[in-house]
This record gives sequence, C-alpha cells and structure tokens, in this order.
Amino acid sequence: MGAGRTTHSCRCVVSSRPIYLDYQATTPVDPRVVDAMLPYLTTEFGNPSSSHSYGRAAATAVDEARAQVAALIGAREPDEIVFTSSGTESNHLALTGAALAMRAAGHGEHVITTAIEHPATCATCDQLARAGFRVTVLPVGADGRLDPATLSDALQPGTVLVSVMHANNEIGTLQPLAEVAALTRHRGIVLHADAAQSPATVAVDVDELGVDMLTVVGHKMYAPKGVAALYIRRGTPPLVPQLRGGGQERGLRAATENVPGIVALGAAATIARAEQASDAARILPLRDQLLEELQAALPGLCVNGSLRNRLPGNLSLTIPHVSAAQLMAATPGVAFSAGAACHTGDTAPSPVLTAIGLTAEQAARTIRLGIGRYTTDTDISTAAGRLVAAALNGAGAGR
Ligand SMILES: Cc1ncc(COP(=O)(O)O)c(C=O)c1O
Repeated sequence: MGAGRTTHSCRCVVSSRPIYLDYQATTPVDPRVVDAMLPYLTTEFGNPSSSHSYGRAAATAVDEARAQVAALIGAREPDEIVFTSSGTESNHLALTGAALAMRAAGHGEHVITTAIEHPATCATCDQLARAGFRVTVLPVGADGRLDPATLSDALQPGTVLVSVMHANNEIGTLQPLAEVAALTRHRGIVLHADAAQSPATVAVDVDELGVDMLTVVGHKMYAPKGVAALYIRRGTPPLVPQLRGGGQERGLRAATENVPGIVALGAAATIARAEQASDAARILPLRDQLLEELQAALPGLCVNGSLRNRLPGNLSLTIPHVSAAQLMAATPGVAFSAGAACHTGDTAPSPVLTAIGLTAEQAARTIRLGIGRYTTDTDISTAAGRLVAAALNGAGAGR
C-alpha cells in the first residue's frame, strides 16, 4: 500500500501517498466489506425496529452479522453478541456493566486489570475506583506479558472482575488468557478480554481462551470506524446497561443500530475467519524482513516485547540516537506512529512502554510499525530505506 501506485486488491489506495505502516491504529476498509455494506446506506435503509419490510430487511441483516461475528470468535449463540459503537464502548459496557452487577449481587467490589491496557480500559477502571471499587493494576514482565502467578497472588475473596487484553495495541504482545481463565473460572470471577487488535491475524476462540466477555472492533479488522461488538457468554451475570432507551440489543445497549456498520463488521468477520491464517503467513515474513533491514543498518535498535507471542504485523522499536518525533518529521513518506495513535497529543511517555521497563528517554525514541493486508514486499524495502536514511541522518535537523 505504498506511494506512487495503486494495488489491485485495495481500490481505496490513492497514488503518491506515504507507505501505510500503522495497521494497529486503523485498517483500510476491505473493498468486499464496502460492497456488503453499501446497500444498507442506500436501498436497504430501514430501521431494524420497524415491522414493515424495510425494517425486516435491516433486522435480518443485523441478525446475519451477529451470526458472522459469533462464528469468528467461536461463540455458541449469536445472541451472545451485542453491537456497540466502538471498542471504547464495548470495554466500558463490559467493565462497568459487570462490576456494577457483581457488586449489586453482593459478590464483592475488587477489580483487576493490567498496566498495559488500552486507555479505554484504564479510564473505565479509574471511574470504577471513583465509584468505590478497589482496583488492582498488575505489572507485566519486560517481555510485555502478564505472569499468571502475579494474577494468582492478587486474587481476593471479593474479586469480581478481571480484564486482560488479548493483544496489546502498542507492542503487539499476546497475553496468556487461557492460563488467566484457569485462575478466574472456578472462582466465579467474570473475565473480560479486549481483543480489538487480534482477529485480523490471530485466531480468537472464546472457549479456548476461557473468557466470559470479549471486545471485537471493526476498524482494526478492515471494517469502518464506529462499529464494534461485545461477546457476553451465556450464563454471565446480566450486565447493568450503560445506555438505556429503546431496548435494542436485548436491552443491553439502547440506540438505533448502525446497520451499515454492523453489516460491514459481519462481512469483515467472515473474511477474517477465512483469511486470518493466510494473512498472518504473508505478513510475518514481511515483519521479519523489515526488522532485519532496520537492525542491519541501525546497530543498537531494540525490539520491545516478546517477538514470539505477538501479533504478526507489529513491531515496536526503540531506535538509537533519534527521537520518534524527529524520525516521523524526517520521514513523511512512511505513515507510522510514535506511540499509540489514541495517545497522540499526550507528551507523557507511553504507560505501556514504561510498564515494560523503558525509561522516558527510551520511550521517546520508540516507534510502532504496523503491517497488514495490503502491505507489499516493495513497501517494506522502500519504507526500510526511508527510515534508515532518516535515522542515519540524525533525523535531519535538531538531533
Ligand atoms: C486494544 C484496543 N482497545 C480498544 C480500542 C478502542 O477502540 P475504538 O477506537 O473503536 O474506541 C483500541 C483502539 O485503538 C485498541 O487498540
């Protein structure tokens, strides 16, 4: 998906634009997803709550998308899927809805999460703390992974909820969720996983992972922004709804459904299910190629987080000598991140990078490169050349 040309597979690409290496920030919408959703913006515009044929067509499409998302993550029933507006909303509904429900049932008010969660989870946990919950934030190792023994030590009789992300959005590390579930399941603790980053390239099966709730996000898997889902395992104590109104989504999330977005998420889920393994097999060597070219030219370059337990398309790299901001300014021909896109504007070092032991100075020299469905070999070699030239040049002025 590089500069100066278009690819046959992604008609959304405009020529002469920077090479896009920021797939953890967002993905382009797959043209097949666009085709699936378009009728729901034009002819099939009905409100799924309407009882006439327009409404029934929209409701049928939403039902089909629910089944598609359920199939992607191995949910047993489509009804275990609730559509939301975003990963942020899914995480908020999961954590607040479950914490309030568990407290109301008298089970306790202790919540556990990790130091590397997305701000959507961290901020929701902060809000729970303000509402009187005790929140424990677990450290992770230098490899960016949670040691289940750390969780085991933190569990208390009043622990009601644990939230551990499946794949980290900055350093790409995958968490040992099945081992986490082995600790929570028999204690009746609700386990939530934020899997926003995973399904595009990593198999996600809610039974294998042992989770009770799981967040899935459209714009990280080639569907548009503004649509997401929350899986809620049957038998999980009923969540306290956070949006009340017309009773949509079985009363768990009121608001007229974003039908085109939901149809898009369903189509993207079906594509991911069929292609996540082949996408991963194509992307992994591209990542290795990029890493080899950068390491060869920039001695002292460090990879952050485990390379083995990681999203195939993620590299978090601490570059010697130049700051990420300087490198970005000197490399307009490559679109990448200095940290997580969601954190831009924030000058404090990334909490994820400090959690794995980086100093503020090292964090300021850290970049994230994200490879995805439309990245080509040529993109990788061209991007590597541009990054190396800028880094060797001290990223231009101001070194
Ligand atoms: C791991 C993770 N969780 C949650 C979110 C939030 O998703 P959204 O942007 O749809 O609110 C993101 C987005 O960057 C993410 O990477």
